[in-house]
Amino acid sequence: MEKTFLMIKPDGVQRNLVGEIIGRVEKKGLKIIGLKFLQISDKLADKHYEEHIEKEFYSELKSFITSSPVVAMVLEGDNVVEVIHKMAGATNPKNSAYGTIRGDYAINFTKNVIHTSDSLESANREIKNFFKTEEIVNYVQSSQIWNG
Ligand code: CDP
Ligand code: MG
Repeated sequence: MEKTFLMIKPDGVQRNLVGEIIGRVEKKGLKIIGLKFLQISDKLADKHYEEHIEKEFYSELKSFITSSPVVAMVLEGDNVVEVIHKMAGATNPKNSAYGTIRGDYAINFTKNVIHTSDSLESANREIKNFFKTEEIVNYVQSSQIWNG
Protein backbone atom coordinates (compact mmCIF):
# COMPACT_ATOMS: atom_id res chain seq x y z
CA MET A 1 0.00 0.00 0.00
CA GLU A 2 1.26 3.50 -0.88
CA LYS A 3 2.72 5.66 1.90
CA THR A 4 3.41 9.37 2.14
CA PHE A 5 4.92 11.91 4.54
CA LEU A 6 3.00 14.83 5.98
CA MET A 7 4.39 17.45 8.35
CA ILE A 8 2.55 20.20 10.19
CA LYS A 9 5.10 23.02 10.13
CA PRO A 10 5.98 25.25 13.13
CA ASP A 11 3.33 27.84 12.22
CA GLY A 12 0.63 25.16 12.11
CA VAL A 13 1.60 23.92 15.59
CA GLN A 14 1.89 27.44 17.05
CA ARG A 15 -1.43 28.48 15.50
CA ASN A 16 -3.19 25.47 17.07
CA LEU A 17 -4.03 23.87 13.71
CA VAL A 18 -2.83 20.37 14.64
CA GLY A 19 -6.30 19.04 15.48
CA GLU A 20 -7.83 20.66 12.41
CA ILE A 21 -5.26 19.14 10.05
CA ILE A 22 -5.32 15.67 11.62
CA GLY A 23 -9.14 15.93 11.51
CA ARG A 24 -9.05 16.57 7.77
CA VAL A 25 -6.74 13.60 7.26
CA GLU A 26 -9.05 11.35 9.29
CA LYS A 27 -12.24 12.61 7.63
CA LYS A 28 -10.74 12.02 4.18
CA GLY A 29 -10.41 8.36 5.20
CA LEU A 30 -6.62 8.21 5.28
CA LYS A 31 -4.81 5.93 7.68
CA ILE A 32 -2.16 7.30 10.06
CA ILE A 33 0.61 4.71 10.53
CA GLY A 34 3.27 6.96 12.07
CA LEU A 35 3.04 10.11 14.19
CA LYS A 36 5.57 12.15 16.13
CA PHE A 37 6.15 15.57 17.68
CA LEU A 38 9.68 16.92 17.40
CA GLN A 39 11.83 19.98 16.88
CA ILE A 40 13.83 19.74 13.65
CA SER A 41 17.63 20.03 14.03
CA ASP A 42 19.85 21.92 11.55
CA LYS A 43 21.07 18.55 10.25
CA LEU A 44 17.56 17.17 9.68
CA ALA A 45 16.48 20.43 8.00
CA ASP A 46 19.37 20.12 5.51
CA LYS A 47 18.45 16.49 4.84
CA HIS A 48 14.74 17.10 4.42
CA TYR A 49 15.23 20.14 2.17
CA GLU A 50 18.39 18.93 0.39
CA GLU A 51 17.11 20.09 -3.03
CA HIS A 52 16.70 23.65 -1.69
CA ILE A 53 20.00 24.17 0.16
CA GLU A 54 21.48 26.35 -2.59
CA LYS A 55 18.33 28.41 -3.13
CA GLU A 56 18.04 32.04 -2.07
CA PHE A 57 15.05 31.33 0.21
CA TYR A 58 16.76 28.50 2.10
CA SER A 59 18.18 30.47 5.05
CA GLU A 60 14.73 31.86 5.87
CA LEU A 61 13.16 28.43 5.35
CA LYS A 62 15.74 26.72 7.56
CA SER A 63 15.41 29.17 10.44
CA PHE A 64 11.61 28.87 10.22
CA ILE A 65 11.47 25.06 10.08
CA THR A 66 13.88 24.69 13.04
CA SER A 67 12.29 27.48 15.12
CA SER A 68 9.59 25.53 16.94
CA PRO A 69 8.16 21.97 17.01
CA VAL A 70 6.49 20.19 14.12
CA VAL A 71 4.17 17.18 13.85
CA ALA A 72 5.41 14.51 11.44
CA MET A 73 3.15 11.79 10.06
CA VAL A 74 3.23 8.77 7.80
CA LEU A 75 -0.05 8.13 5.99
CA GLU A 76 -1.08 5.07 4.07
CA GLY A 77 -3.76 4.61 1.42
CA ASP A 78 -4.59 4.12 -2.20
CA ASN A 79 -2.93 6.93 -4.22
CA VAL A 80 -2.17 8.70 -0.91
CA VAL A 81 0.82 10.75 -2.24
CA GLU A 82 -1.37 12.58 -4.75
CA VAL A 83 -4.42 12.74 -2.48
CA ILE A 84 -2.63 14.50 0.39
CA HIS A 85 -0.52 16.70 -1.92
CA LYS A 86 -3.78 18.00 -3.47
CA MET A 87 -5.35 18.50 -0.04
CA ALA A 88 -2.33 20.67 0.92
CA GLY A 89 -2.77 23.03 -2.05
CA ALA A 90 -0.27 25.10 -4.05
CA THR A 91 3.03 26.03 -2.33
CA ASN A 92 2.38 29.77 -2.46
CA PRO A 93 -0.84 30.35 -0.50
CA LYS A 94 -1.67 33.21 -2.90
CA ASN A 95 -2.33 30.50 -5.48
CA SER A 96 -3.82 27.79 -3.24
CA ALA A 97 -7.48 27.06 -3.85
CA TYR A 98 -9.96 27.52 -1.02
CA GLY A 99 -10.80 24.14 0.42
CA THR A 100 -7.14 23.16 0.49
CA ILE A 101 -5.22 23.36 3.78
CA ARG A 102 -2.92 26.14 2.57
CA GLY A 103 -5.77 27.92 0.76
CA ASP A 104 -7.82 27.97 3.95
CA TYR A 105 -5.14 28.60 6.60
CA ALA A 106 -2.07 30.31 5.10
CA ILE A 107 -1.14 33.66 3.56
CA ASN A 108 2.68 33.48 3.69
CA PHE A 109 4.92 31.67 1.16
CA THR A 110 7.33 30.33 3.80
CA LYS A 111 4.87 29.84 6.67
CA ASN A 112 2.49 27.71 4.66
CA VAL A 113 1.34 25.36 7.47
CA ILE A 114 2.07 21.96 5.98
CA HIS A 115 4.56 19.90 4.02
CA THR A 116 3.53 16.92 1.90
CA SER A 117 5.67 14.68 -0.30
CA ASP A 118 5.47 15.55 -4.00
CA SER A 119 6.17 12.04 -5.37
CA LEU A 120 6.54 8.43 -4.31
CA GLU A 121 10.36 8.78 -4.35
CA SER A 122 10.25 11.89 -2.16
CA ALA A 123 7.81 10.14 0.17
CA ASN A 124 10.16 7.17 0.67
CA ARG A 125 13.14 9.46 1.27
CA GLU A 126 11.27 11.80 3.63
CA ILE A 127 9.71 8.97 5.67
CA LYS A 128 13.21 7.49 6.20
CA ASN A 129 14.55 10.89 7.30
CA PHE A 130 11.97 11.15 10.09
CA PHE A 131 10.95 7.60 11.07
CA LYS A 132 12.73 4.39 11.99
CA THR A 133 11.13 1.24 10.55
CA GLU A 134 9.85 0.22 14.00
CA GLU A 135 8.11 3.59 14.45
CA ILE A 136 5.74 2.80 11.59
CA VAL A 137 2.84 0.70 12.84
CA ASN A 138 1.03 -1.89 10.80
CA TYR A 139 -2.56 -2.41 11.98
CA VAL A 140 -6.08 -2.98 10.79
CA GLN A 141 -8.19 0.18 10.86
CA SER A 142 -11.81 -0.79 11.40
CA SER A 143 -13.17 2.16 9.37
CA GLN A 144 -11.19 1.04 6.30
CA ILE A 145 -13.97 -1.19 4.90
CA TRP A 146 -16.28 1.85 4.87
CA ASN A 147 -13.70 4.11 3.22
CA GLY A 148 -13.52 1.77 0.23
O1 CDP B 1 6.45 22.61 0.14
P1 CDP B 1 6.40 22.40 -1.36
O2 CDP B 1 6.95 21.06 -1.80
O3 CDP B 1 5.03 22.69 -1.91
O4 CDP B 1 7.32 23.55 -2.01
P2 CDP B 1 8.87 23.57 -2.37
O5 CDP B 1 9.02 24.33 -3.64
O6 CDP B 1 9.50 22.22 -2.26
O7 CDP B 1 9.49 24.50 -1.22
C1 CDP B 1 9.64 24.03 0.09
C2 CDP B 1 9.19 25.10 1.05
O8 CDP B 1 10.07 26.20 0.97
C3 CDP B 1 7.81 25.71 0.79
O9 CDP B 1 6.75 24.94 1.30
C4 CDP B 1 7.92 27.03 1.50
O10 CDP B 1 7.75 26.87 2.91
C5 CDP B 1 9.38 27.41 1.25
N1 CDP B 1 9.57 28.33 0.10
C6 CDP B 1 9.82 29.67 0.35
O11 CDP B 1 9.84 30.08 1.53
N2 CDP B 1 10.01 30.55 -0.69
C7 CDP B 1 10.01 30.10 -1.95
N3 CDP B 1 10.22 30.97 -2.95
C8 CDP B 1 9.78 28.74 -2.24
C9 CDP B 1 9.57 27.87 -1.18
MG1 MG C 1 8.83 20.27 -2.12
